[in-house]
Amino acid sequence: MQFFKDKVVVVTGGSDGIGLALCNLLLQHGAKVATCARNQAKLYDLQVQQSGRPLHTQIADVSNKNDCARFIHSTIEVFGKIDVLINNAGISMRGLFADTDIEVIQSVMDINFNGPLYCTKFALPSILQNKGSIVNVSSIAGYRGLPGRSGYSASKFALNGFSEVLRTELLHTGVNVMWVCPGFTASNIRMRALTKNGANQGESPMNEDKMMSSKECATNILQAIIARKRTLILTFEGKKTVWFNKLFPSWADKLVHKYFYKNGQLVQ
Ligand SMILES: NC(=O)c1ccc[n+]([C@@H]2O[C@H](COP(=O)([O-])OP(=O)(O)OC[C@H]3O[C@@H](n4cnc5c(N)ncnc54)[C@H](OP(=O)(O)O)[C@@H]3O)[C@@H](O)[C@H]2O)c1
Repeated sequence: MQFFKDKVVVVTGGSDGIGLALCNLLLQHGAKVATCARNQAKLYDLQVQQSGRPLHTQIADVSNKNDCARFIHSTIEVFGKIDVLINNAGISMRGLFADTDIEVIQSVMDINFNGPLYCTKFALPSILQNKGSIVNVSSIAGYRGLPGRSGYSASKFALNGFSEVLRTELLHTGVNVMWVCPGFTASNIRMRALTKNGANQGESPMNEDKMMSSKECATNILQAIIARKRTLILTFEGKKTVWFNKLFPSWADKLVHKYFYKNGQLVQ
């Protein structure tokens, strides 16, 4: 982890879950870290816990282009450059497409897809200068559509496509583009997932205790950045899902349906 000493790393959505674990580990390993989120109190808590360390925080909603511009430009003002951008901020949803307000799907797309687009656009000149890395935190749902998550899966498929194009375009520039697909990871994402009418779900339908921890997920991401990997697919279940879906897509439809439904009702 010596690699990160004095590197300037931007992590969107660093106030909770995987993003918070990334910020804590990066600061511990000597990086200069910039992060944003919408909730001021949680960013303030992070500032207090990490006081004395090189941390820049700003309230920003990544679905807002001007917020992203302000956040990225202020990071360059504070630290002088950007070496690594980790587009991590994201939200999930749970609701069958037929029942879900279209605005719910649009806001998931705005945060999970447009957010990385804006931040990458504004940070790219500095990352190019420093031959750094761009990391997009996607999901297994970006390889395999999951019932009740139409907007989430669509946003992560879009993010994977964007990442692949960007990686190819930047292949000979010295910039590494990687997309990361965590499997189920213990965090607040399911608590805050949007329901069919846009309210927070307020509970997790899954057993969070059995999942990979956010810290383990973040450690894997940092190791993959050092190794300049192309993709990182996490958890045994996650890898199995991606490969099974590639080889036997119709069979996968049936198995995924079986996992998510009971007596015709979406239960996961
Ligand atoms: N946990 C999993 O099982 C899992 C699996 C696969 C992929 N992922 C991906 O991993 C990433 C991190 O998720 P997580 O599990 O750590 O979720 P989390 O615990 O809910 O944390 C999400 C973070 O993103 C921030 N955020 C959300 N919307 C934002 C917005 N519009 N603008 C700025 N910041 C925003 C949140 O802060 P505020 O709410 O204060 O803005 C929070 O800091 C996401 O992209 C997610 O899709 C997670």
